[in-house]
Formats: sequence, structure tokens, C-alpha cells
Amino acid sequence: QEPTLETEFLVVGAGPAGAALACFLTSYGLKGVMISTAPGTANTPRAHITNMAALECLRDIGLDKDLEALASKGDEHMIHTRWCHSMAGEEYARIHSWGNGPDRKVNEDARLQIFRPSTDFPIQGEYETASPCGPMDLPQTQLEPVLVRYATMNGFKTRFDTTLLSFETDSDTGLITANIRDNLSGQEYQVRTKYLFGADGARSQVVKQLDLPLSVKPGQGMAINVLVKADLSHLVEHRRGNLHWVMQPDKEHPDFGWMGIVRMVKPWNEWMFILFPTRECDFQISPSKEEYLQRVRDFIGDDTPAEILDVSKWFINEIVAEEYSQGNIYCMGDAVHRHPPFNGLGSNTCIQDAFNLAWKVAYVHRGLADPSLLSSYSTERQPVGRQIITRANDGFREHFNVWQALGMLSEDVESRKQVLAELTAPTPTGRERRQAFQAAISNTCHEFHGLGVEMNQVYSGPGVYSADEAVPFKHSGPAAEDPVLYYEKSTYPGCRLPHVWLNTTTPTEPKSTIDLAGHGAFTLFTGIGGEHWREAAKKVSAELGVPVEVHSIGFREEWEDVYFDWERVRGVEESGAVLVRPDRYVGWRAPTVLESEEACESKLSTVLASILGRK
Ligand code: FDA
Repeated sequence: QEPTLETEFLVVGAGPAGAALACFLTSYGLKGVMISTAPGTANTPRAHITNMAALECLRDIGLDKDLEALASKGDEHMIHTRWCHSMAGEEYARIHSWGNGPDRKVNEDARLQIFRPSTDFPIQGEYETASPCGPMDLPQTQLEPVLVRYATMNGFKTRFDTTLLSFETDSDTGLITANIRDNLSGQEYQVRTKYLFGADGARSQVVKQLDLPLSVKPGQGMAINVLVKADLSHLVEHRRGNLHWVMQPDKEHPDFGWMGIVRMVKPWNEWMFILFPTRECDFQISPSKEEYLQRVRDFIGDDTPAEILDVSKWFINEIVAEEYSQGNIYCMGDAVHRHPPFNGLGSNTCIQDAFNLAWKVAYVHRGLADPSLLSSYSTERQPVGRQIITRANDGFREHFNVWQALGMLSEDVESRKQVLAELTAPTPTGRERRQAFQAAISNTCHEFHGLGVEMNQVYSGPGVYSADEAVPFKHSGPAAEDPVLYYEKSTYPGCRLPHVWLNTTTPTEPKSTIDLAGHGAFTLFTGIGGEHWREAAKKVSAELGVPVEVHSIGFREEWEDVYFDWERVRGVEESGAVLVRPDRYVGWRAPTVLESEEACESKLSTVLASILGRK
């Protein structure tokens, strides 16, 4: 039977992973089909913390501005995570969050300190200097329509209510035939495609059928999302923040919600009450809608009117696929990494998976790279997946110390009250408990200020040329002591291109290195004395047909480094070179210029051919 439809790229799933991939593929002029079994984009807010690493990917296609216009951000909305008895009641603690701590956000004095080779803590201004983007809070209900619209307007036909049932790969042609059902008519049809992308979420049909090996650690239970309309402006005016842990150890609590998180969805009149049930909770018996509403009222703590809009459940998983691809089938997002929302790594990792894969697919499709380049997708992204599922679950586990210190883990209300009383007692045990509580809260900075885990990914394998480096990459400075908390800028091959603001000799807006790179091309940064690299890049680009942009940075060069920030991070001499891949990861670097233009050309040609898998 002939397929009903032929395409080169079939994306299964229109969530953050699939929709982002479709966007990035269209930026290379590639057109395809995206299907989703759901009737539309996300109908509940789900993931919301949008980090700078993901935003830099979307900035490549200009979408960061669209998202910024919709998002909540900064001091106004994201400054704290709080622990309290109720939203209206007593507070236990607060911690600055998401780049809004005075010790970690912009501070002009600190600007000079940040690159000083010192291990003094804390370093300051890191969020500001890490990226041209800033962290934001954007619920999935708002993120997904932007992505789907962009993908659809630029060449990806999108079909909702459309389910992938199964697929077969033709062993002769390598083409994949997908069996698809239109959920409205019930009609089944086939789509023949060259590439199939499994971005179909935590219950991925694609991963299941491929039987990709999964590394599964025991789950940590489940959570209930109760979406609530309630205007809490009066309660957060002086207690701003997007996450509020509510704990009432001195009260009896129902099994379905012994404690919870009140998360801002829309400031300040839409909230997600995330409830954690005990293992004893029997969902056959309770809760009713009224019971949920009562719990919401308990958590609010005054008589603010509240209305429940939706209730959904999710599981606290620690699962990662050992391999992300098989043949021309590539999986991404929750299909291959499943974890709780702690550290806010969910949709952010999905978007970065897609960004890593898109340029490789485009280069292979255009004949600019050997198909072997595509194997580097799994090599580079799987370790990131493992890292983030571990971090997110560690983030959850670390909260146990807070609960323990507050006495939440005792079974009966009387012993919990005793613990709570101990917290105020002028006794050595009281002091010990307060210290344990403070230590537990301080340690949550790994979740709420985990800049390192967001930005420190270092790739290795065939997509990176590190053969010229004498010493393997190892973090230094603060990141060596705490790679979850602190991001280290480096041009070591496999690292993210460091962001630095540059200027021109005329008074124009500063430009980030991040904006000079990307946009589908390789970029070579050099400086005074590096003219041979420029000429070499021109020739190699023509010879291989691969776009290579060149930028020279330095005193009276094309780009002025007026703060000397590039000088501090470039890791090579003025005449050296830093070659950046289209996904803005460093592919290779040369400490200095070589003896002749020919030598530079030969070297660059070898390096590019190696990265692209061309012999
Ligand atoms: P996602 O699950 O978003 O999308 C999968 C896509 O595949 C959908 O379009 C679906 O319709 C489609 N699909 C699935 N099977 C298909 C098939 N057979 N054929 C065709 N299409 C198919 N994260 C967080 O950070 N904070 C939070 O609070 C929450 N809360 C939360 C609540 C709930 C209820 C859920 C389900 C999830 C969360 N998450 C979350 C997780 C977060 O939503 C998640 O990390 C991202 O949505 C993952 O994006 P993906 O694109 O990988 O999958």
C-alpha cells in the first residue's frame, strides 16, 4: 500500500521538545510534518522556569523577545522561594532564587572580581555576565503556542488530534513508514519519512517501539497539580516570589496533601497548588473537589476567594534512556529523560536537545556533513540527560532535610508540635534544630541558584575536536568546588561559547558573542595578528561549502573588547582562533596563528572535516 503522505521530517509530539525542533529545522529552510495526539498545545501550565541556556537557543531564531513579552521575571516575580505556614501566615525562611540574589546578580564592583582567578566565595554578578538572556518564568501554556506558531508559519504542517500508532523501517531504503490515526475521524493513514523524531513525552511510543534501554531508578511517588484562580496580590506584596512551600506541622493533614508548593502561574491571580500525597493515600476514596478546595484554603490562610480550574497528577521519576537514537530515528525531551521539576530543568533540556540535533540534521541533509555526525547527538546529549535527572531528584531529596528540621516527618501531630516548639526554644537542642534548619534551607541554593547545572555542559566525542589539547577539560575556580552552583566560562572544545559584550569603534549597541555566532553557520573568533585565520576560513568555507563567519576582536579590530572580558575568557593568544559550531559550542581552538596562511587553511580544513565526519 502506497503511503498517503511523504515527508522528509516527521516530528511526533508538539510539546517543548517537538515544537522547538520543528522551529529550529525551519530556520534551516527544512519543511516537514509535526503531529500531536493532544487536541492542542498544553492545557495546564506544567514547566515554567525558563533558563538562559534554553533562551539562548531560541534567541538564535529571534523568539526570545516574543517570550520575554509574555513572561514574568526578575525581582518583581522570581526573587524568592519561601517556606511558610500559609500564604497569609508565618514565614519559616526565604532564599533568593533564579539569579535574583544580591550576591549573584549584577553588581558593578563585582564585575571586575568575577574573572579574577580567585576561589573567594561568593562570586557575584554571574547571571548577568553569563548570558545576554535573563531567566524568566513562562508557563508551558504560553511557551508552546509561540513555538508551534513559529514552526507552522515557517513550513512545518502541524496536526493535532493525530496519533502515531507504530512505524516500520525499510531495510533497503532506510525510509520509515509511520502508521497514524486521525483521532477525529478514526481514519488511519501512513506517512513515509526519511527522519522520525520521537518527541512524544514520558509515555513515548517511539522509545517503546525502539525498545531503547532505559536506566530506571526507583520513583519517589507522585504529586497532584491543583490549578487555582485566586488573587493573592495582598499576600505577596512584601513576600514576593514564584514558589512558596507551605507546611503546617502543627495541624492534622489529609493523606492526599500533607504539604505542598504554591507556585505562581500568572502574577498574582493564578496559582498551581502542588500537593504531595502520603504513600497511604487511597485515591479511590478521596479527595473530593471540596476537599481539594479546603486544602487550598488551608494553604492560603485567609478568606481570599479561590476557584479550582483543573486537577492533574504527575509522577516523580528518575529515568534516562541509555541511547537517544537508532538509525534515522531520534528521541528527545521527556521521551528520553523523565524527572521532577526541581531546578526547573524540564522544558529547558527539551529545547537544548532540539537545538543540538537540528543543525546536525540540516548539515547532513544538505550534504555538508557525513551522516555519522548524527551519532554525536546521543553522545553529547545523553550525559546531559543523566546529569539533569540526577540533579532534579537530588533537588527533591534535599528537601527532606528541611522537612526533617521542621518536624514534618513525625507521624503524629503532638510530636510535630514539640519539634516546632523546639525551633523557638532557648536551649542547646533548640539551637541545634535552628542550625539544621538553616543549613537545609541554605543548601537549596543548589536548586534555586543552580546556574552551573544549567550552563556547564561540556560535550565530547566526534562532534568536537579536542586532539590538540594537552590537558583534558577540568573545571577550575568556584565551578571546580561546586559545579551545580557555579558556571565557568571556557573556550575549551566542547564548552558553551562564553557570552561577552563587544562594541564597535562607532557608538552603536553592544553585541554579544552569542549573537555573532550561531544562525546556522560556524564562527571563527580571532584577534590582532590572526589575519591568516580569516583568509584560511574563507578558503575552507568555499572548499567544503560550509558557512564560516569570521570575527576579529581586539583593540581597533572589527569588535572592541572595551571591558577586556573576551581577553579574560578567550583561552588563546590574541592571534589564536576559537571555532564555534552552529549550536554555539566550541568545536576547536588554536592557541596562536600558524606560520602561514596555508598552514592555517590546512589545519582548519582538517578540523572542520573531522567535526563534520567528512573524510
Ligand atoms: P510533552 O509531554 O510536553 O509533549 C509530548 C507531545 O507528544 C505532546 O504534544 C503529545 O500530544 C504528543 N504525543 C504523545 N504521544 C503521542 C503519539 N503516540 N502520537 C502523537 N503524538 C503524541 N515540569 C516542570 O518543570 N514543572 C512542572 O510543574 C511540571 N508539571 C507537569 C505537570 C504535568 C501534568 C505534566 C504532564 C508534566 C509536567 N512537567 C512539569 C513536565 C514538563 O511538562 C515536561 O518536562 C515537558 O513538557 C516535556 O516536554 P516534551 O516535549 O518532551 O513532552
